[in-house]
Amino acid sequence: MPAVDPLLIELPQALVGDRVVVRPWRAGDGPALYEATQESLEHIAPWLPWGPVHDSPESSEKFVRRWSARWDLREDLPMGIWNKSSGRFLGGCGLHRIDWDVRSFEIGYWVRVSQTGHGYITEAVRLLTTLCFDSLNANRVFIRVVVENERSKAIPKRLGFVEEGILRNSIADPEGNPRNIQVFALTPEDWKNRNW
Ligand SMILES: CC(C)(COP(=O)(O)OP(=O)(O)OC[C@H]1O[C@@H](n2cnc3c(N)ncnc32)[C@H](O)[C@@H]1OP(=O)(O)O)[C@@H](O)C(=O)NCCC(=O)NCCS
Repeated sequence: MPAVDPLLIELPQALVGDRVVVRPWRAGDGPALYEATQESLEHIAPWLPWGPVHDSPESSEKFVRRWSARWDLREDLPMGIWNKSSGRFLGGCGLHRIDWDVRSFEIGYWVRVSQTGHGYITEAVRLLTTLCFDSLNANRVFIRVVVENERSKAIPKRLGFVEEGILRNSIADPEGNPRNIQVFALTPEDWKNRNW
């Protein structure tokens, strides 16, 4: 049992950056999520397995309601990313594979295809990393990326995450073929010495 029961850990209702707002999913977010996934199916498919499961606004709405419940239970902390000035839905991110004993968190992310190339995900990952170290007392924050996913690897590299190594044949791609994963991480020591 962790020192503090995760159910009692306070979490912010939103992380506000210069250009993005990152917040837990709410009932009613489903249609925006569905619209973003529909424009992004080919962009997401090589790297993440879930695109096709969003086959209607209702199916996406069921996902956001389940994610909201998991947030409340502190089982997983999935969030949406929104443009701060326009309110437009940009993509998803979150803290996953949480080990509340070790205080270890995995950051995941995707951006809708029409909003790539603006640095929104880099900003969102900066906000999540800050949440982990400044509020959640993290000992480890990590990002796992399929080695061929250069655009994704650029994000932890840009933020000074340490390359820890490659886990060979550690996930299956959508066709079931094993893929190598590169692991990037920060510890509190790295966080103190960050350059941003
Ligand atoms: C991985 C993914 C999120 C990267 O998206 P992205 O748009 O490249 O990431 P960012 O939002 O951080 O934007 C960075 C880009 O914006 C540019 N940029 C512009 N303004 C910027 C700013 N203020 N700060 C940082 N970057 C900025 C950067 O130069 C970079 O562009 P470049 O790649 O041409 O050099 C996206 O390709 C994606 O969703 N892929 C499919 C799902 C996926 O692979 N998820 C990750 C699984 S591990």
